[in-house]
Amino acid sequence: MEVSRRRRRKDDLPRAPTWWWWTLVILLVSMETRAVYALDMWWQLGVSGVERWKNHPTYVLGASQPVIGLCAQIKGLSARQLRLCTTYQDHMSSIGRGAKMGIGECQFQFRDRRWNCSTVQDSSVFGPLIQIASREAAFTHAISSAGVVHAVSRSCREGDLASCGCSRARRPKDLHRDWIWGGCGDNIEYGYRFAKAFVDARETERNHPRHSRELARMMMNLHNNEAGRKAVYNYAKVECKCHGVSGSCALKTCWQQLPTFREVGHRLRDRYDGATEIRFNRRGTKLVRKNKNFNKPSKEDLIYLDESPNYCVANPETGSLGTVGRVCDKQSQGMDGCSLMCCGRGYNTFKQKLTERCHCKFYWCCYVKCKTCERVVDVNTCK
Ligand SMILES: *[C@@H]1O[C@H](CO)[C@@H](O)[C@H](O)[C@H]1NC(C)=O
Repeated sequence: MEVSRRRRRKDDLPRAPTWWWWTLVILLVSMETRAVYALDMWWQLGVSGVERWKNHPTYVLGASQPVIGLCAQIKGLSARQLRLCTTYQDHMSSIGRGAKMGIGECQFQFRDRRWNCSTVQDSSVFGPLIQIASREAAFTHAISSAGVVHAVSRSCREGDLASCGCSRARRPKDLHRDWIWGGCGDNIEYGYRFAKAFVDARETERNHPRHSRELARMMMNLHNNEAGRKAVYNYAKVECKCHGVSGSCALKTCWQQLPTFREVGHRLRDRYDGATEIRFNRRGTKLVRKNKNFNKPSKEDLIYLDESPNYCVANPETGSLGTVGRVCDKQSQGMDGCSLMCCGRGYNTFKQKLTERCHCKFYWCCYVKCKTCERVVDVNTCK
């Protein structure tokens, strides 16, 4: 089908009027430049083909063969990322997993906000929205870079990567002296270092002049990438396991453990809510607070350059989807409440039948029996 369509187009085109031809050419060219400008991102790895990557024969064989071809197939890698890909092929599925975790967590944290972190079908992953240096862009950079730290640290511990293993973090000073430090821990040091090298690579490839928009955006991205890594790195925990006769816990073995990714998501969402607006200093070399009444942002805080677009109405130019049709809560005064979510346009209410398990009873021993109940609930969606 593809073939016949293409052939037909080939036959048709010469007969089409020339102005039509030129429109097509201009359209194609502008689409092309737009695609480049649309910030191809390595996040793409989290959307497509991590599993395909893992099952790829070159990868499975340990790949002494050139894998450049394979890395080049991934859309959204910058030149330096491409080089890292060929050197550390075995890391790529962890990076994909990290990006995927980041996207999933973003959608969870923003499920009841006007901007809900939905993705689009191209290599920018989050669509044209990310071109605006808003706090939403800040969040996506932070959460995806946190995802990579998390995934790589865990992969080291699980023995999936050739160049790292269990954490070699020092024994914490306050650990009870009878407890053993030495379980295999998440290698957060390695995860941090690798994520920094890989994620930041695409930002630092080019030099930008002072005062330029590109320089500001580059510095903003670098800062937020770091904030994301810190949201994992600075919150490593100590986890212990008891040994000894029937759980007497006479002996404990402890190791370094990653925070859960949900915790990381909550933390970064708080940082999003308190993000700092920044601008260039007078020399155009550094980013400083726009409003001096606010605190200086720390390394863990998110920063942004531009006000967010209006997420109330759909706008293909900014990539905003609008909130028409979004489910809202009539009772809530928060962001998920109908008045804020629907931006004052009002809402429609309809009834929905829910089937759920109910009247559950526990029988000795050991099963639970439930009935199914039907319940009708009101669902509100924005006009
Ligand atoms: C976000 O909201 C839009 C409607 O505004 C909806 O089409 C989309 O499925 C939602 N995405 C997620 C991830 O919930």
